[in-house]
Amino acid sequence: MQYRVKLFLFFVFFISNHFLAQTYKNANADIELRISDLISKMTLEEKIGQMQQLNLWQMNSKVIDTVAKGKVGSFLNAGNKQDKIKLQKAAVEKSRLGIPLIFGRDVIHGYKTVLPIPLGQASTWNPDLVKRGTEISAREAAEDGIHWTFAPMIDIARDPRWGRIAESCGEDPYLASIIGSAMVKGFQGNDLKSANTIAACAKHYVGYGAAEGGKDYNTTLIPERELRDVYLKPFHAVVKAGVATLMSAFNDLNGVPTTGNSFTLKTILRDEWKFDGFVVSDWTSVDELIKHGFAKDGKEAALKAVNAGVNMEMVSENYTKYLKQLVESGKISTQWIDELVAGILRIKFKLGLFENPYIRNFEESTILCKTNKAIAKEIATESVVMLQNKNQTLPLKTKSLKSLAIIGPLADAPKDQLGTWTLDGKAKNTITPLTAITKEFGETIKIKYVKAMATCRSNDTKYFQNAIDAVKQSDAALLFLGEDANLSGETHSRAFINLPGNQEDLITELSKLGKPLVLIIMAGRPLTFGNITDKVNSILYAWHPGTMGGEAISDIIFGKTSPSGKLPVTFPRTVGQVPIYYNHKNTGRPPSANQLGRTLGTPENPEGFASYYLDVDFTPAYYFGYGESYSSFNYSDLTLSKKNIDFNDTLKVSVTVANTGKYKAKETIQLYIRDLYASVTRPVKELKRFKKVEFIPGETKKINFELTSEDLKFYDINMQYNTEPGDFELFVGSSANDKDLLKTNFKLTGSKEE
Ligand code: GLC
Repeated sequence: MQYRVKLFLFFVFFISNHFLAQTYKNANADIELRISDLISKMTLEEKIGQMQQLNLWQMNSKVIDTVAKGKVGSFLNAGNKQDKIKLQKAAVEKSRLGIPLIFGRDVIHGYKTVLPIPLGQASTWNPDLVKRGTEISAREAAEDGIHWTFAPMIDIARDPRWGRIAESCGEDPYLASIIGSAMVKGFQGNDLKSANTIAACAKHYVGYGAAEGGKDYNTTLIPERELRDVYLKPFHAVVKAGVATLMSAFNDLNGVPTTGNSFTLKTILRDEWKFDGFVVSDWTSVDELIKHGFAKDGKEAALKAVNAGVNMEMVSENYTKYLKQLVESGKISTQWIDELVAGILRIKFKLGLFENPYIRNFEESTILCKTNKAIAKEIATESVVMLQNKNQTLPLKTKSLKSLAIIGPLADAPKDQLGTWTLDGKAKNTITPLTAITKEFGETIKIKYVKAMATCRSNDTKYFQNAIDAVKQSDAALLFLGEDANLSGETHSRAFINLPGNQEDLITELSKLGKPLVLIIMAGRPLTFGNITDKVNSILYAWHPGTMGGEAISDIIFGKTSPSGKLPVTFPRTVGQVPIYYNHKNTGRPPSANQLGRTLGTPENPEGFASYYLDVDFTPAYYFGYGESYSSFNYSDLTLSKKNIDFNDTLKVSVTVANTGKYKAKETIQLYIRDLYASVTRPVKELKRFKKVEFIPGETKKINFELTSEDLKFYDINMQYNTEPGDFELFVGSSANDKDLLKTNFKLTGSKEE
């Protein structure tokens, strides 16, 4: 062979060899090549290091040394920018292979510009808007060197006693799937390498929201069919949307804690859904396998969590302590460790951390910028749900309004207004309702503010008189009541869910003055307040609306915009009705309309044998999907393209909606179905589509939807995900309440799809 050819081949071989030798550092190489190259170079200790996440209680030389030895793969709450740079330098420049750290943080509903709590965001029924919210949150967090957020929380929550319902997207699997996917797309964008995006983490996988009694961390018993048809649905949706990571939960699921549950973590998540990101445990939930009585000690906890499929242990250090001996003793296979480590490295490569391990330089900061505040305000405005508006009291007419009383502990509560899980948002940036209203109308309307209660939970009446005097001297009064931020969120479950303290007494006293009262409730959950609804004219439910909540609420009260929020969760009349949710089963003895009307707490004589209570109406206080507007909407002409469809057809649905009022307003048109009979019992309604549409006064629009047999699937008697032929009802309207819905029906014919 000619010398020159030999030289060329040698050159090619040498370069490619060198090239391959550094493949994992080659940004142009295929990620899977980079992963396998890197893993082939790693020691077992280094692999285990990637599987350990630590919380940075405080920076010290020991931590730096641990990182430099490649014993940590991630930190959460890793201090300020300088701390992150120090830690990253130790990882990238001092550790043997220079694998960068991934920094996680709970960016749950905004970073420094705080958005409404997720339950409020779900109330917008506006996924595009919610996506914009997580986009700006990702960018703000990225500016502080955060790579990864522990959001969205998409636990289906049917129990308002559970404090974490505040962090959820509500009770419905379809709405939670749409809103949760929008949040993921906003956080992650189209390219995780972009400086403006961060990795998302769907949590808490799975079934955490079904905690018995609504008591946080409590046992969950969920039959597989309910697990698949309800609780897993949003997680499957976000996995299909490309979520980078999931977080295993605290709860014991049918006797097997989710952090040690190979059925959910392996069979479903990996084998069925082909998920190739990584799972981080929740805070010490690996260690808690011991307390669950599922592991004898830390070693068995590590064994069970790893073998089930938890890639990374958060805060507790059983992986660091025991995985080496577990692998060397053959209890855990090297192949499985490699697969778990590959999942972590895959996300680090996708994030571009090997190329950009340090905080990017941004031209200018977007933190708390005007655009971000405007988006936060838009979400807050669309999250507010109007539950009542007697005599069209709202919007207040500024022309005739000369004096206004602003009453209550939440009128000017900048920290509480931000809601639970606000780690980086600061109270000083909050625009409260008092601030917003005074700023806009303080010159033209005589405003009297009285807090009236020391806190939301006060039980004394010593300030009531000041409030009574202020309302007496005013044309109308705004009452800002509800829960402070600490009454919801993690570990903050409540056995009673009425207005805290003696807020009801305050309302009762003020209602005696004969002035129009507008009640604005801020809360992290549905509350029960049936005792006072006839004592106030209007009720706005504002959740915890975040940094810009004050301006949002003011714009609604004074008519700059019409309320358009819809409830993402059913409101019970009393906590005794819980759990109560719209997509329930029919039972063999459903109550009928003539069994309505029981007044709270007065046992009635039983009328027939049906599924109801003697001492309260069987219907909720407010239905899923409910929310009033300043305008009014008329639904008509519900038509289907066919009355009989087969498995390959597309069913076209159309309905005419008219804005019959005098305000420009948005309406969320909801489409539900009911499968009348099947191999297993089916819910009386299931949300399958919705559209939020703006109408100018008098405008009529034809709204169209499409359904296929795919939308009718469920887990049948053989636990197969199937559609079954049969008769269906289809509903379109403004809430899950039958009286707000037009109804039609169709038949699904034919056998299984070819
Ligand atoms: C908490 C929460 C979880 C959060 C994690 C890190 O206990 O359960 O939602 O992301 O720990 O803060």
